[in-house]
Amino acid sequence: MQGPYAEKLEQLFCDRIAVPHAISVNSCTTALEICLQYYGVSGGEVLVPSGSFVTDISAVTWSGGEAVLVDMNPETLAFDLEDLSRKVTSKTKAIIWVHLIGIMSFEYAQIVEFARKHDLALIEDCAHALGASIDGHQAGALGDAACYSFYPTKMITTGSGGMITTRDSALDRFARELRIFGRNPESGKVGRVGNDWFLDEIRACVGYFQMGELDDFLERRRAIARRYDELLQNQPGLRLLDVSDALKPAYYQYAVILDGSVNREVLIGNLREKHGIAAKGIYLPTHKETIFEHLDNGALEMTEDTLGRSLCLPMFVGLCDNYVESVAKALITEIRQLL
Ligand SMILES: Cc1ncc(COP(=O)(O)O)c(C=O)c1O
Repeated sequence: MQGPYAEKLEQLFCDRIAVPHAISVNSCTTALEICLQYYGVSGGEVLVPSGSFVTDISAVTWSGGEAVLVDMNPETLAFDLEDLSRKVTSKTKAIIWVHLIGIMSFEYAQIVEFARKHDLALIEDCAHALGASIDGHQAGALGDAACYSFYPTKMITTGSGGMITTRDSALDRFARELRIFGRNPESGKVGRVGNDWFLDEIRACVGYFQMGELDDFLERRRAIARRYDELLQNQPGLRLLDVSDALKPAYYQYAVILDGSVNREVLIGNLREKHGIAAKGIYLPTHKETIFEHLDNGALEMTEDTLGRSLCLPMFVGLCDNYVESVAKALITEIRQLL
């Protein structure tokens, strides 16, 4: 526990994100909860995208805060800025900003400015975005803190695991104590209510070597995405996500947005049954999950519409070019039949 590989892995994150502190933990969910506890969200509100993974809300709940859901901008897959403004109250403490599927919003400067103006902690959820950048800014370098996931499908994996990066030495200290039972490293005494949230050496060692391959992984994912883009552009029935030159996505997923006239569930079934291809939507909107239905205020339409029409195609480092071509061909054929 907490040996040389955890330290080496943390140093690789400091170097990559260009921040002074990185704290390894056992998952991104843990990373989020530690940050939310640090920013004192208990009894307050946290702005969270409705188009994300449920854990962004559960972490708020476990930290004693209340999640307030914000609708999606369908162009960026991040916050709708007007809805973000509408949702701020005197109780708002923090924002969880998710770089969904590894894409960073071209409205990033407005989001950072918004958090500053309202004096809110800005926590980047980089579970999908390790290695992504926009205008040269790394995902994780823009907010007050950033959280990463090493779950098996993510950009790098340790089985499960996570990381926090920050410029804030007090958060560094807080996280280091909380992750190991709340113990003060100098006195050895327990001064906080902590947990066993550290990343053990076995997983840290895997993570260290995975990080060494991150640039190769990113290059392969981007090459696959470019090929999909070439094969699918100007095809009827779907829209490609707009990726400008300034944006270097991590491509955790490669998603297209289907026209409203295409029945996505039938398409997914046909791809699977006729072609053996696994495709799926990005996520169910969080407010459609049973436990968070009470957060559905009936005005998160853009999230519902965009996620409901999203389709993620196979994307992983070991995918070969021929398979990418077969997927694109099958998709074009099957969509035509449904138009
Ligand atoms: C956006 C997002 N945030 C956080 C998490 C949680 O990551 P972990 O499994 O490491 O807790 C996930 C998991 O898929 C995710 O998609």
